Amino acid sequence: MIFYFTGTGNSLATAKALAEDGEPVVSIAEVNKTKAYSYTFKKGERLGIVFPEYCSTVGKPVLDFVRNLDVKGHPYCFAVITCGGVVSFAAGLLRHELAERGIRLHYATFVRMPNNAITYSPAPPEDKQQELFRKADVRLAELKEKLRKHTVRPVRGGLLATAFQPLLRKSSSTVPFRAEDGCTGCGLCAKRCPEEAIRMENGRPVWVKATCAMCTACLNRCPAGAIEYGEKSAGRDRYVHPDLR
Ligand SMILES: Cc1cc2nc3c(=O)[nH]c(=O)nc-3n(C[C@H](O)[C@H](O)[C@H](O)COP(=O)(O)O)c2cc1C
Repeated sequence: MIFYFTGTGNSLATAKALAEDGEPVVSIAEVNKTKAYSYTFKKGERLGIVFPEYCSTVGKPVLDFVRNLDVKGHPYCFAVITCGGVVSFAAGLLRHELAERGIRLHYATFVRMPNNAITYSPAPPEDKQQELFRKADVRLAELKEKLRKHTVRPVRGGLLATAFQPLLRKSSSTVPFRAEDGCTGCGLCAKRCPEEAIRMENGRPVWVKATCAMCTACLNRCPAGAIEYGEKSAGRDRYVHPDLR
């Protein structure tokens, strides 16, 4: 079973690429909503966790998920962290959190994908995105073989990634979000928000929580391109993985 969290599709595409025939690919956002945290694994079964790196650390939805996980059995456990380029110690934090729940993380790695943090820096241009996807495909094919063999590799990093949690929290304020005149009131932003931080009021999105997961799904996936984050996103192309376009 592979659990994934995604804002703009990179981690979903990664989880699907790694899944074996018939292996369930399950949304962490849905699990957090339904609170279905108990899983029993038979001998030889896998527990995969695929998610994006945020500010060199692990985002809130993934931490919420892991901190509530109730696992019976001893699955082969792996994590694949998608990132825009800066590899961090996020895996060490995940290993620690899983160990607290009695789960051993056997293997963890990063896969570089296009950057979706357009509030920090622009998404790569289309040709660069295609190059990143080609390289990721090669990496994922190799990785799939390793994971199929239940390869074990000590996971690097201690709790260094916790030092970046305050930075992530500070960067996750919903205050700068706004919908511009182009908003059609379709409500997809509210529907897709994994933190239920957006409510539709009089046909317009309103950010009703002080902070969110900062997954950028609302910002990058708005069909009208009508959502902005202060001045940081203005004039920047949006990024969505081709599978979700
Ligand atoms: C708030 C935020 C912070 C990010 N921080 C990092 C980072 O520290 N290092 C990095 O390489 N990528 C960073 N990224 C980029 C994402 O990790 C990357 O684009 C990821 O593949 C997006 O996955 P998704 O499409 O599944 O949401 C960040 C993205 C966001 C939205």
